[in-house]
Amino acid sequence: MKTASNKPFLKVLAGEKVKTPPVWMMRQAGRYLPEYRKVRAKAGEFLDLCYNPKLASEVTLQPIDRFGFDAAIIFSDILVIPHALGMKLEYLEKTGPVLDPVRTRKAIESLSAKRFHAHLNPVYEALELTKSRLPKHTALIGFAGAPWTVATYMIEGKTSKQYEHTKQMMFGDKALFSKLMQLLVDVTSDYLIAQIDAGAEAVQLFDSWAGVLPEESFEEWVIKPAKEIRKRVKKIYPQVPFIGFPRGAGLYYKDFVKEVAPDAVGLDYTVPRQWAAEKLQTRLPVQGNLDPCILLTDKKTVAKETVKVLTDFKKGPHVFNLGHGILPATPIENVEAMIKAIRG
Ligand code: CP3
Repeated sequence: MKTASNKPFLKVLAGEKVKTPPVWMMRQAGRYLPEYRKVRAKAGEFLDLCYNPKLASEVTLQPIDRFGFDAAIIFSDILVIPHALGMKLEYLEKTGPVLDPVRTRKAIESLSAKRFHAHLNPVYEALELTKSRLPKHTALIGFAGAPWTVATYMIEGKTSKQYEHTKQMMFGDKALFSKLMQLLVDVTSDYLIAQIDAGAEAVQLFDSWAGVLPEESFEEWVIKPAKEIRKRVKKIYPQVPFIGFPRGAGLYYKDFVKEVAPDAVGLDYTVPRQWAAEKLQTRLPVQGNLDPCILLTDKKTVAKETVKVLTDFKKGPHVFNLGHGILPATPIENVEAMIKAIRG
């Protein structure tokens, strides 16, 4: 498969192997950057920044200006979806996101997609603005949280360890859980399509908690929703690459790739690279998977570990990335060392 694009990131997603792998980092616009902290302080709350197209676009471009990454990911969050469905959402300094949990039929039936696109219009505007300002070799990525991961936040009301309430509903009241998941499949598909309308050139579906489900549940609540969302996006935009990131999926990565048929798959840092090169990369481009904690060490260690990732994935199409989001305590010089090791 060939693409007309000159953007290395899009070339690789189309299955081409390029000499220097394109690179971007999950959470690349964030607190490890002083210029981000400055704009964040000016914006006020985190959500104020997400819904301010001008400032959201500005922070989206910060890591591009500083490091010259091959892709920009629009600055937003996976929880704007529950917010757009009418849930209360706050980000607390220490706890992270907090929502009023939906655990009853009444609460789930009160969610409404009526104002969904109006609510998310600032994200679309931020995409348009960013697209008009991007360097010409840089691609723009849109994203959404996958239904399972977003449902855990909606039902638990926060980041969870055991997912008790979510799994209780999933195992105990399948009809109700299905209703919520169906709603999420519908709005997530529409949201990704609207992001492409606004200028996104690739989309990534983040299933951050995919790794906590047993076999049948993984099939039903990670694979099936991703497959349906991909199908709906591809129906409208067959040429736009769809990246799946079922974090922690372990053994099930293979099933995910086979059944969802994404254009590329994001690998978390626990995925054994030689296994992935053999079993996954021979079928599709892979993206990943440096452990973000390596970026907390020193330049020499970073260079050494970066080369290992490059070497393990050198036989096929590879987008260099971290195996999860960059941490706020990361020294900038270590990000520079990583890029230097990739680009030489
Ligand atoms: O990658 C990027 O640069 C784009 C922006 C982006 C953010 N969140 C910004 C953000 C993306 C792609 C996300 C995805 C996201 N958000 C995920 C999936 C990826 C993953 O990390 O597994 C999840 C699970 C969330 C939910 C979320 N958002 C949590 C748990 C938290 C609190 C923890 C934390 O890092 O603070 C957030 C807040 C958040 N989202 C921040 C940023 C930059 C920090 C907020 C701040 O500036 O204070």
